[in-house]
Amino acid sequence: MFGFLEQNVSGRRCVWVNGPVVVGAGPSGLAVSACLREQGIPFVVVERADCIASLWQKRTYDRLKLHLPKKFCHLPKLPFPEEYPEYPNRKQFITYLENYAEKFGIKPQFNESVESAKYDEKCGVWRVKTVSTLPSSIRSETEYICQMLVVATGENAEGIVPEIEGLQDFSGEVIHVKDYKSGEKYNGKKVLVVGCGNSGMEVSLDLSNHNAKPSMVVRSSVHVLPREIFGKSTFDLAMTLMKWLPLWLVDKLLLILAFLILGNTQRYGIKRPSLGPLQLKNHHGKTPVLDIGALEKIRSGDIKVVAGIKRFHRGSVELVNGEILDIDSVVLATGYRSNVPYWLQENELFGKDGFPKRHFPNGWKGKRGLYAAGFTRRGLAGASADAIKISQNIANVWKEELNQKKKKVPTHRRCISTLF
Ligand SMILES: Cc1cc2nc3c(=O)[nH]c(=O)nc-3n(C[C@H](O)[C@H](O)[C@H](O)COP(=O)(O)OP(=O)(O)OC[C@H]3O[C@@H](n4cnc5c(N)ncnc54)[C@H](O)[C@@H]3O)c2cc1C
Ligand SMILES: NC(=O)c1ccc[n+]([C@@H]2O[C@H](COP(=O)([O-])OP(=O)(O)OC[C@H]3O[C@@H](n4cnc5c(N)ncnc54)[C@H](OP(=O)(O)O)[C@@H]3O)[C@@H](O)[C@H]2O)c1
Repeated sequence: MFGFLEQNVSGRRCVWVNGPVVVGAGPSGLAVSACLREQGIPFVVVERADCIASLWQKRTYDRLKLHLPKKFCHLPKLPFPEEYPEYPNRKQFITYLENYAEKFGIKPQFNESVESAKYDEKCGVWRVKTVSTLPSSIRSETEYICQMLVVATGENAEGIVPEIEGLQDFSGEVIHVKDYKSGEKYNGKKVLVVGCGNSGMEVSLDLSNHNAKPSMVVRSSVHVLPREIFGKSTFDLAMTLMKWLPLWLVDKLLLILAFLILGNTQRYGIKRPSLGPLQLKNHHGKTPVLDIGALEKIRSGDIKVVAGIKRFHRGSVELVNGEILDIDSVVLATGYRSNVPYWLQENELFGKDGFPKRHFPNGWKGKRGLYAAGFTRRGLAGASADAIKISQNIANVWKEELNQKKKKVPTHRRCISTLF
C-alpha cells in the first residue's frame, strides 16, 4: 500500500500512497475499505482513535442497541450472524465490525488525526497531514500523498455543546451524552437531560431505570414513533409503503398508527412538528425518535418533560416558562456535528456544515478524486450504499490509470520525486 516513505527536512514523515487514503475507521471507512479490498485496490486508512469504530466503542452508552432491524444495518459483503437478535446491541455490533475488519484485512493507521487535507494543483495529488494523538508521544507528523481521498469521518464526529447562560457557573457535573455510559452512578440524583432526540430519550429512560430523577428539556418539537407497529419494524413498514405511496401519505399513515399506539404525545409536553416525520428527515435531516420505552416513563411521571432553558444557576436551572428546578447534574444530549470543515481545504463537494452540498444520492463524489462516505443522513444503510458506489468508481479510475501507466510515467510521479 505504501509506495515509498521518506523523512523531509522538517522531520515530518512523507508517505506516498498507492491508491486512496480513507480518513476514518468507522463503519463507513470500513465498508469502503472492504469493497476496495474486493476490487484488489490498495489503500490506507487513517484513524484518530486507537481502535476501529471509536464512536461505538468509546462514545456511546452501554444500553445502546441498533434501532433499525439488522437487515438494514449490515455493511457490504457480510450480513450479521444468524444468531444475532433483530436489533443487535452495541457490543454485538462492535464484535461484528471487528470481524469485518479482520475478514477484509483492514489495518488502519491508528492514533493519527488528520489536521489538514489539500489538493496540490501543481502536482495533481492530495496532501493529507496527520498528527499523532498518542498522549505521551512527541508530536509526530505524517504527510500522506495520494491521488484519491475518501472522507469517512462521520456525521457525528464532535459533540455539540451549546452556549447556555450560566452553564459555566453550575456547580454540578455537566457532560455531553458522548461521555455518558450508564445511569448507575446517578442513583437518586436529579438530572437535567438537555435535548429530546434519540439520545435524550434513551438516556432519560436509562436514568429512570437506575432510580435517578430525570427531567428532559423539550424546547421545540419532535416526532416520536413506536419502534414497531403490529410486530413489524416501523422503518421497514415505511420503506414498504414508500414503494407505492407518496411521502406525505406515508407520513399521514405513520402518524395515525403512532397515535393509535402511543396516544397524543402533546398531552405529555411533546409537540409534533408540522411536517411529517419522513418529510422532515428528507428536508431537514431531523431524525424521528423511535420509542423503546421512554414514552411510558413520561406517561407515568418517572421522566419529567420540561420547557426550554433560560439560564443556569449554581444548583438549579431556570426555564423559559419561569419554572426553577433544583438539579444535581446535566447531560447535554444536544447533538453532534461533522468536523470536515476543520481539516478539509475544499469547498466544492462539502458545504460549511461539513456535509456534501448535493443531497442523497448525489453527494458521494467530488472532483479530483475526492469522495464522501457516510454523509447521507441515512445511517448505516447510507454508508453501505456510498461504499459500493465509491469503490466501483475508484476501481474504474484505477484500471484506467494502470493502462495509461503502462504507456508512460505519469506527471504526478515525476512531480512527487521533486517534493522532498
Ligand atoms: C448514539 C448513536 C447511535 C446511533 N445508532 C445508529 C443506529 O442504530 N443505526 C444507524 O444506522 N445509525 C446509527 N447512528 C448513526 C451512526 O453515526 C452511524 O450509523 C455510523 O456510526 C456512521 O459511521 P461512520 O463511519 O460514517 O462515522 P463514525 O462511526 O463516526 O466513524 C468515523 C470515524 O472517523 C474518525 N475520525 C473523525 N475525525 C477524524 C480525523 N480528523 N482524523 C482521523 N480520524 C477521524 C472517528 O474517530 C471515527 O472512528 C448512531 C449514532 C449515534 C451517535
Ligand atoms: N440507535 C439508537 O437508538 C440511537 C440512539 C441515539 C442516537 N441515535 C442517532 O444519533 C444521531 C444523533 O442523535 P441525538 O439525539 O444525539 O442528536 P439530535 O437528534 O441532533 O438531537 C439533539 C437534541 O438536542 C436539542 N437541543 C440542542 N441544543 C439545545 C439547547 N440549547 N437547548 C435545548 N435543547 C437543545 C435539539 O432540540 P431542537 O430539535 O429544538 O433543535 C434536539 O432535541 C441521530 O441520527 C440518532 O438517530 C441513535
